[in-house]
Amino acid sequence: MQSQQSHRKDEHVFLAEKAFDQESHAGFDQVRFIHTALPEMAVSEVTLTPELFDWQWPFYINAMTGGSKQTGERNAQLGRIAAATGLAIATGSQSVALADHSLAETFQVMRHNNPDGFILGNLGAGKTWADAKDAIAMIDANALEIHLNVAQELVMPEGDRDFHWLDDLAEIVAKSPVPILVKEVGFGMSQETLAQLKQIGVQYVDIAGRGGTNFATIENYRREARDMSYLKNWGQTTTESLLEASTSDMTVLATGGVRNPLDILTALRLGARAVGISGMVLHSLIQAGEPQTLELMRAFQTRLAQLMTLVGARDLASLRQVPVVYDQALVNYAKQRHLE
Ligand code: FNR
Repeated sequence: MQSQQSHRKDEHVFLAEKAFDQESHAGFDQVRFIHTALPEMAVSEVTLTPELFDWQWPFYINAMTGGSKQTGERNAQLGRIAAATGLAIATGSQSVALADHSLAETFQVMRHNNPDGFILGNLGAGKTWADAKDAIAMIDANALEIHLNVAQELVMPEGDRDFHWLDDLAEIVAKSPVPILVKEVGFGMSQETLAQLKQIGVQYVDIAGRGGTNFATIENYRREARDMSYLKNWGQTTTESLLEASTSDMTVLATGGVRNPLDILTALRLGARAVGISGMVLHSLIQAGEPQTLELMRAFQTRLAQLMTLVGARDLASLRQVPVVYDQALVNYAKQRHLE
């Protein structure tokens, strides 16, 4: 008999796929690059190494699964894809396995299949340092993501209602031997949130903005009375969140609604040190299969270097300097949030 928590993991995968929209709503189309007709460089001159840990690539597969038999199999596939491509990868939340140790192997399989890769563990905020330590040890994590998911919890009838998170988070950041990356789950972050995180010593954040996987929608699907469906547009898009983060000196990563290599290029141009992809990878695994998803990730690697050439950028620092124009709505957002 499957536990309620394991069942929820399967439901998340099923419903994320059901809600998947091939079109991104993360605001990447609000940012236009200026075409360079004379780049005076070769694609082979492009370096994509990010200024982040020992990563080889500026994009990664972000947190999704684990905690049930079926999602364990997904983690096995994702681990193999990460090993074959050299991409960093995160597990889904490990908290189910802290409560029930028999589920640990559904996360550990990612490490078994990717022994030398960079793997980020994952836990929700509100967990203690002892929990974080166990999660890191469980998969020999190179870094640990702590996710902030207030909107998701509030939509869930069985979700948390107490969000005093900063004290535990501060302790985890202070004690962890591996980097702690604080992330959202698809509602974005504001400059105010970033300032709170910085104050407790957080250095790495993933703003995980709105525009792709939407946990208000997913949690609403889980019950008859879809009484909070009005939250489907809650939060800041990935693009808006990157503008929010533009004045921060923290190391900023971005996830949310990435569908193609141009979305990655746009997020990198707006200051992300690396860009996470979740829903689209899952969609490809479910609809096309593992070999095709591996090829898709390889194609992203190749295409990203080609797009760098299209804007005349040899490396990611140069990319951040290339000219872009924002659409009126984004200009308006930046103005009202004093982000100019
Ligand atoms: C997620 N996401 C997520 N995030 C997290 O920190 N812990 C988790 O356990 C999960 N679980 C999860 C399950 C599934 C099925 C999906 C699709 C996503 C959120 C994910 O890491 C990411 O922040 C958002 O999904 C936004 O990115 P995409 O999906 O739009 O690329």
